[in-house]
Amino acid sequence: MGTHISRTVAEGLAFMNFIGGRQVDSASGRRIDVASPSDGRVFASIPESAAEDVDRAVRSAARAFEEGPWSRMPAVERGRCLTRLGLLIEKHGDELAALESRDTGKPIRQGRADVVATMRYYEFYGGAGDKIHGDTIPFLPGYTALTLREPHGVVAGIIPWNYPMQILARVAGAALAMGNTLVVKPAEDASLTTIRIAELAHEAGVPEGVFNVITGYGRDAGAALSAHPAVDYVTFTGSTLTGTAIQQAAAVNNRGVTMELGGKSPQIVFSDADLDAAMPVLVNAIIQNGGQTCSAGSRILVQREVYATVAAGLAERFSKLVAGPHDADLDLGPLINRRQQERVAGMVAAAEEAGIEALARGSVAADAPSGGYYFAPALFGSVDPAKAIAQEEVFGPVLAVTPFDDEADAIRIANGTDFGLVAGVWTRDGGRQHRVAKRVRAGQVFVNGYGAGGGIELPFGGFKKSGHGREKGFEALYDMSATKTIVFNHG
Ligand code: NAI
Ligand code: MG
Repeated sequence: MGTHISRTVAEGLAFMNFIGGRQVDSASGRRIDVASPSDGRVFASIPESAAEDVDRAVRSAARAFEEGPWSRMPAVERGRCLTRLGLLIEKHGDELAALESRDTGKPIRQGRADVVATMRYYEFYGGAGDKIHGDTIPFLPGYTALTLREPHGVVAGIIPWNYPMQILARVAGAALAMGNTLVVKPAEDASLTTIRIAELAHEAGVPEGVFNVITGYGRDAGAALSAHPAVDYVTFTGSTLTGTAIQQAAAVNNRGVTMELGGKSPQIVFSDADLDAAMPVLVNAIIQNGGQTCSAGSRILVQREVYATVAAGLAERFSKLVAGPHDADLDLGPLINRRQQERVAGMVAAAEEAGIEALARGSVAADAPSGGYYFAPALFGSVDPAKAIAQEEVFGPVLAVTPFDDEADAIRIANGTDFGLVAGVWTRDGGRQHRVAKRVRAGQVFVNGYGAGGGIELPFGGFKKSGHGREKGFEALYDMSATKTIVFNHG
């Protein structure tokens, strides 16, 4: 499998790009240090790729698409490759969970949960690709019209650092199942499992050039990839600002895009809700992955009659939360890097200065390494929904609780941000469950539950600034393909 560079050394692991089925360094030979967020210490390095490397990867993917066999293979055979990849991921599960956890700082049990979800994506798309088909359309007399679902060609996937393995899997699973070839640019802060999974895909029988990975900074490698004229479709998960830049770059070539851009997702708790069932879910939805989840439940709207009870219950739980290194497996790990730590701290300090009521604070483990990027969870109460802490994505363990009066008030506040990704509704009233679920502007609504991450089978994506296009589930196969209509005039 290409030239193996000394990745077996325990410290200073040198990871490579994966292009055309081979490990290759960047043309410049420049590298980016990889530090563990748990202690800030460098333990590996990745290539700092630039436009030249991107071009090489895109040409490799374009050649693989044109020459086949991937794009012309029966869908069932492509599916078998993806299924085998899922099994290899399961087999290498401990290695992948440890690598992801070390690279991102997430607690090791979250790394393991990510492996299970990743495996499920390849299992799901391995079985789904041969179930998608076109239509025949009643047309004029003497004609037969039918549609085919065809791959776009070269799909570029720009992946964030919060759930690298899972987000890669939802992109790669759907794109590859439909016969596209792939160039992936993982985040500079979390590229390691992406490289490893490309290698495993090769081992599972995905042909050379079909699954390419180039690492590097967004402003160089990411920008060059989204603007490359031989890329046929771009899919991106990350910040709204970067999403705009990528759409503008892809627009120069008039290419299609899928954009998953985060949110400010509310959970609405009515006075008749089962509060015992809700409470742990309300906390977990913002604490999972340190709050660095696009679908994090970062706002709680509580009906005034139960506001004091819910606020007190949340405060009690928040005060017990402890952040620590990934291998200590506490409630949450560190944040991804110093910049995110400073950003979150700045937003919390601004909320405190604005006089917003601080209800509780978690803590950082006393023995957590001082070089790590820790942030103690923060809970704010009686938050005016117009304030920044209730409007902007914090991407950290920070929860804003706001009281409301009635159903109309709840819907108004829930819909009163620029985002629309996920919502939770807690009530025993069946009519209200349906009414609120329909009126909340969000790509997913959970009633008496909340699902941040996971949900492989469930279409996922945003309204408003949360983006457009849908990933996950069967629906992603439509985004990752285009309809071709063929008309026969047979008289
Ligand atoms: P980002 O959106 O800039 O980074 C995500 C990916 O985009 C990375 O692979 C990065 O290299 C790439 N990228 C950056 N600039 C690019 C460009 N001009 N062209 C092409 N690719 C580019 O996110 P960042 O700066 O790491 O985090 C900032 C904020 O973004 C977070 O605080 C959070 O609010 C949000 N975010 C949301 C995520 C989500 O899951 N929705 C994931 C990561 C960040
Ligand atoms: Mg890292």
